[in-house]
Amino acid sequence: MTHRIAVIPGDGIGPEVAQAGVRVLERLGLPLQFEWFDFGAERFLRDGTVLPTDFMDALRRDYAAIYFGAVGDPRVPGNEHAKGILLAMRFDLDLYINLRPCLLLDDRLSPLKGKGRAELRFTVFRENTEGLYAGIGGVFKKGTPDEVAQEVEVNTRKGVERICQAAFAFAESRGLRRVCMADKANVLVFGHGLWRRVFAEVAARHPGIEAKAMYVDALAMDLIRQPELYEVIVTNNMFGDILTDLGAVLTGGLGVAASGNIHPGRVSLFEPVHGSAPDIAGQGKANPIAMVLSGALMLEHLGFAREAQIVQNAVRDQIEHGAHTPDLVPLLGGTAATTGQVTAELLTRVEKFLR
Ligand code: NAD
Ligand code: IPM
Ligand code: MN
Repeated sequence: MTHRIAVIPGDGIGPEVAQAGVRVLERLGLPLQFEWFDFGAERFLRDGTVLPTDFMDALRRDYAAIYFGAVGDPRVPGNEHAKGILLAMRFDLDLYINLRPCLLLDDRLSPLKGKGRAELRFTVFRENTEGLYAGIGGVFKKGTPDEVAQEVEVNTRKGVERICQAAFAFAESRGLRRVCMADKANVLVFGHGLWRRVFAEVAARHPGIEAKAMYVDALAMDLIRQPELYEVIVTNNMFGDILTDLGAVLTGGLGVAASGNIHPGRVSLFEPVHGSAPDIAGQGKANPIAMVLSGALMLEHLGFAREAQIVQNAVRDQIEHGAHTPDLVPLLGGTAATTGQVTAELLTRVEKFLR
């Protein structure tokens, strides 16, 4: 059976890293068929298209996965198209798990003194379909001195329950022992009070796993101080967004941070944590590794565990022995290579590990 993959490269460095990622995945010789779509700022500015409804239906019906670059363009300062494209897929396809592994691949990528691969290996489960991202709110008396703006945080029992359950199930399946939930229940007593109660209920169903609820500010501090205490972190949409940029910089930066937007058993979306990086777009400076590792997460989702491991091994080998893009030079030394050079070396390594 051939798996159809919808590739949406998007804006800025999106197309550069998407091309690299697809080349690497194609080299594995799997029954994957990549189909490219031009949704992004260019198309939005040209004809107002974000994501047509029939495309969303086709994704549900005909595609195994979506391989996504990034969206964001200085010509669309309100980011309307990002809402209509990326957030629309997360919400309408009900991709409730935003899986963001923060795994250090090489000790030299760690910015923390004395913390290496043994210490930096946590995975964030970010709730991906509600919270402050629900888009509920409005402005009143706009532009006047009496202006009021509200953004409503939505927390449903069902939404909290399923992301907590996913975090515990992941911990169990990987033989991990700890799940930490991050909230701000000392201030947001209603919404995050619900998180505390539901987390405790789900934890009670998994007695073999140590469950801890923490305030997110304390957790942000502790992830720098003693990251080795954390294996799985589950949190709401907004805190997950922030904590995973922190997780990215602890493990080599946005250039290497991968993610999955997942609904188990359904079409799911895989993308780097980084954005469209307009500051380096079109210059061959983009690190393709985040996109390539997102491809490995996609392979796992599709049931190609062996090939996912091959891609991960190739990336690890690349970081250890190969060329690297400018973002990694301060960490790894040497001189900078281009996106194309790193991709070419990755392809060679994939072939080596395939044999
Ligand atoms: P960004 O992630 O695009 O860039 C932040 C910094 O990291 C920049 O200095 C950039 O050059 C660097 N960087 C990012 N990816 C890199 C890579 N692969 N290799 C080397 N360096 C890399 O975040 P930003 O600048 O805050 O946002 C730019 C645009 O992207 C905005 O419009 C934002 O809304 C959008 N954005 C989109 C996504 C997404 O599509 N998932 C995620 C984050 C931001
Ligand atoms: C991310 C991004 C997105 C988010 C933006 C681009 C909507 O920052 O994927 O982390 O906030 O979720
Ligand atoms: Mn983000």
